[in-house]
Amino acid sequence: MMSKKKIFSGIQPSGLLTLGNYIGAMRQFVELQDEGDCIFCVVDLHALTVPQDPVALRNNVRSLAALFLAVGIDPQKSKLIVQSQVKEHAELGWLMQCVSHMGELERMTQFKDKSTGKDVVTSALFTYPALMAADILLYDTTHVPVGEDQKQHLELTRDIAGRFNNRFGTTFVVPEPMIPKVGGRVMSLDDPTKKMSKSNPNEGSYIALLDEPAKIIKKIKRAVTDSENEIRFDVENKPAISNLLTIYSFCANASVEDLVSRYQGVGYGTFKSELAEAVVQFLAPVQARYRELVESDELDRILLTGAEHASAFAEKKMIDVKEKMGLIPREKLSTLTR
Ligand code: TYM
Repeated sequence: MMSKKKIFSGIQPSGLLTLGNYIGAMRQFVELQDEGDCIFCVVDLHALTVPQDPVALRNNVRSLAALFLAVGIDPQKSKLIVQSQVKEHAELGWLMQCVSHMGELERMTQFKDKSTGKDVVTSALFTYPALMAADILLYDTTHVPVGEDQKQHLELTRDIAGRFNNRFGTTFVVPEPMIPKVGGRVMSLDDPTKKMSKSNPNEGSYIALLDEPAKIIKKIKRAVTDSENEIRFDVENKPAISNLLTIYSFCANASVEDLVSRYQGVGYGTFKSELAEAVVQFLAPVQARYRELVESDELDRILLTGAEHASAFAEKKMIDVKEKMGLIPREKLSTLTR
């Protein structure tokens, strides 16, 4: 008998969420809710690896939690948690640092990207992947839906789990990444060779899930296109139009093939204005639901239930992990055999 999938994924509360986050990650989360036990996490401890304004961080955590629900995470089916509210994440994060190697952390491209050219780089930015491994391994996760940029971190998580199991006996499930074949890497609107990213200083390079209609229309109008005026899906030769087609396809729930045939012989101008309309239509109900939720008590209740559920599992898991490593869990003090 196939056992039920255990699904975990996280998103950083670093301000605006983009259509890239939605298409690469959140869309999968929503679809997976009926396939297994899901925990989705606002990874606020990860956000602290770069300087954060406390007030802004607090708002961003709430905002991201509300967005998870607004895009379709159903608290009856899935648990929504804030990482710092389940203290075992940080605790296991430390233990994972103790089994990670400098060399493997040094190879992480995300660390290189985020640290290059910075005057100050925190040590936590460097050890970030060990905390990410902890997030996943804490819950015996079998599947981790993520965008393509997280592939390397997932490989490291699998290596750490395997190393730990070899050294201390089977403790962790070695998780499978789930990276969508289409939409795993949504590109920038201003440069289709770069990933769409909320940290890009050019606002025109991404569409935020909370962008208002006028902004969306303007950004899509200004999005770079490729030479010739033909709408065709060809990532190599027409990366910009292919990226716009991918976005269109997810927002309008239409296949790329259908879109390509619909826009045969039609110029970029019409294509872009209809794409903008599709994105606006797609985001309108998400934004409305978001506004209802963000300041609501309902959101607090959902997070509290999530934290309680996750903690109950995590506390037990930590006892096992600590014992395997030779630590003495407090819970075992009275029954300790010498
Ligand atoms: P983060 O917050 O940068 O991104 C959240 C999710 O969105 C995906 N994503 C994209 N997908 C497609 N195209 C894009 N342009 C794009 N931009 C972002 C990311 O791949 C990711 O799935 N380290 C993680 C957070 C994390 C985590 C975890 C994830 C911490 N612990 C445990 C999974 C499991 C991160 O920084 O994602």
